[in-house]
Amino acid sequence: MTLSEIERIQALLPQWVESSREQCSIGKVASYIPELSKSPIGALGIHLIDSNGLSISEGDTDLSFTMQSISKVFTLILALMDNGEDVVFDKVGMEPTGDNFNSMLKLELVQPGIPFNPLINAGAIAISSLIAGKDPAEKSARVLDFLRLLSNNSSLDYDMDVYRSEADTANLNRSMAYFLKDNGVLQGSVEDVLEVYFRHCSISVTCADLAQMALVLAHNGKNPTTGEQLIPRRFVQIAKTFMITCGMYNASGEFAIHVGLPAKSGVSGGILSLVPGRYGIGLVGPSLNRKGNSIAGVALLESLSREFEWSLF
Ligand code: DON
Repeated sequence: MTLSEIERIQALLPQWVESSREQCSIGKVASYIPELSKSPIGALGIHLIDSNGLSISEGDTDLSFTMQSISKVFTLILALMDNGEDVVFDKVGMEPTGDNFNSMLKLELVQPGIPFNPLINAGAIAISSLIAGKDPAEKSARVLDFLRLLSNNSSLDYDMDVYRSEADTANLNRSMAYFLKDNGVLQGSVEDVLEVYFRHCSISVTCADLAQMALVLAHNGKNPTTGEQLIPRRFVQIAKTFMITCGMYNASGEFAIHVGLPAKSGVSGGILSLVPGRYGIGLVGPSLNRKGNSIAGVALLESLSREFEWSLF
């Protein structure tokens, strides 16, 4: 009897998680947000869900971690739903930078002085200012509710220790935000915009939550169970394109060549990825490579993509 793909994945994952885990010792956990330095450096977990709701969990999937930059995919989508494409792309561009995720180099070098894309820090801060709501609390509640809906988890919430740790130490993001305000990119109070940004970065999830969110993107915005269109298809297309071109920051080209799937990483070590029409994938491995992506997580996705020929290219 031949095994289905999901049965083969199930059979291969335990050994692949253990061999990818060996990479953890050559990376480092993020420490510029002090609270993140407490993350377990040797952890690696993956959760994968298919269109019929079948799921596989392997490794440290009980670990909760903050979404960090992974949340930027969804604030982009919400800002598009709130404002439409013209308003959003008047404030942020559509191009990869080749620079680190927290660089502000090109903001001054290249005119107009708008962030290159919505997934670098400067771009995501600009996007946070486009979320509809009367104050930071209402805007943040809308982001959290949206993620609860997509993850099918009504208890999703903030990790307030990580939130405070970032808010207290974010000198670089703060200077970037004031720079953007001066360039006319941000409206209203800079500190209010930063509060929305730090909050969505500090939403706490598990691999299973990320996999559920990814499955909605894999199904072009539809709830995979009910078929309800939760996100307009066009905005999912935009988000997935940014995930391919900028989702792994200045390692996105390399990731596209070795893995070839839309993905978004965060400095907590999370990665959200998907196989279009088929799988939602959530992964965590807090030990990071020099570009800020999970070192073991990237290795594991490479093994999966190669074995099952998932690359889109
Ligand atoms: O603004 C920051 O620096 C973090 N809250 C998010 C950065 C991040 O996740 C970049 N990831 N690779």
